[in-house]
Amino acid sequence: MASRTIEKLQWRYATKTFDSSKILSEEKLNILKETFNLTATSYGLQPLKLVVISNSELKTKLMPLTYNQPQVRDASHVLILCVEKNINENFILEHFKRVEGQRNTPRKILEPFEKNLIASFTEKNSEEIKDWMVNQLYLTLGALLTVCAVEEIDACPMEGFEPKKYDKLIGLDKRGLESVIALPVGYRDESDFFKDLKKVRRGVDELIIEVN
Ligand SMILES: Cc1cc2nc3c(=O)[nH]c(=O)nc-3n(C[C@H](O)[C@H](O)[C@H](O)COP(=O)(O)O)c2cc1C
Repeated sequence: MASRTIEKLQWRYATKTFDSSKILSEEKLNILKETFNLTATSYGLQPLKLVVISNSELKTKLMPLTYNQPQVRDASHVLILCVEKNINENFILEHFKRVEGQRNTPRKILEPFEKNLIASFTEKNSEEIKDWMVNQLYLTLGALLTVCAVEEIDACPMEGFEPKKYDKLIGLDKRGLESVIALPVGYRDESDFFKDLKKVRRGVDELIIEVN
């Protein structure tokens, strides 16, 4: 018999048609916000922001910038997963201030880590830093999709949109952010053709290698 966890993961699918009359509760939204905050990131730096869009007019304006995919218009909320544009020395210093403040770790212990991290980021070019940030962002996407499955929230992860146009419309560029993933969340419409389709997967036998 399938475990409860596997049943939930089977239940999840990339939703194509949302029921626009069904709205996520504050409680469910808060679970997704906490998930984004609690996801592990490299060094714990969290070079990310999650933008939560509920405004219907704005969601409708996103559709033509999403190759006319209707999920962004019809889902209860559209989450936009963004990376920071500038990770500078100050961003790293802020992180260590949080560690000091929230954990009471003495400055003396933190200083060598802080110095090393600043040095290692100084060596990276902006493309390397962007790739590193995007890797962290995809971790949060995985966590969000899994939590959506567990909480029976429908979602569709989307790369199929025009990030620069999103950034301009939503004003993300002015906030020093770049959008990477759109994640409409809400509830599936009963008419969604995809909701009962069998999952197409390479399969555990092909994907897993046991080394004994
Ligand atoms: C990073 C990423 C980007 C995706 N972009 C889109 C998209 O733009 N539009 C869409 O309908 N589905 C998109 N998908 C959904 C995938 O096609 C889907 O997850 C995959 O076919 C597996 O099906 P399932 O999630 O229903 O099990 C995306 C999925 C991922 C993980």
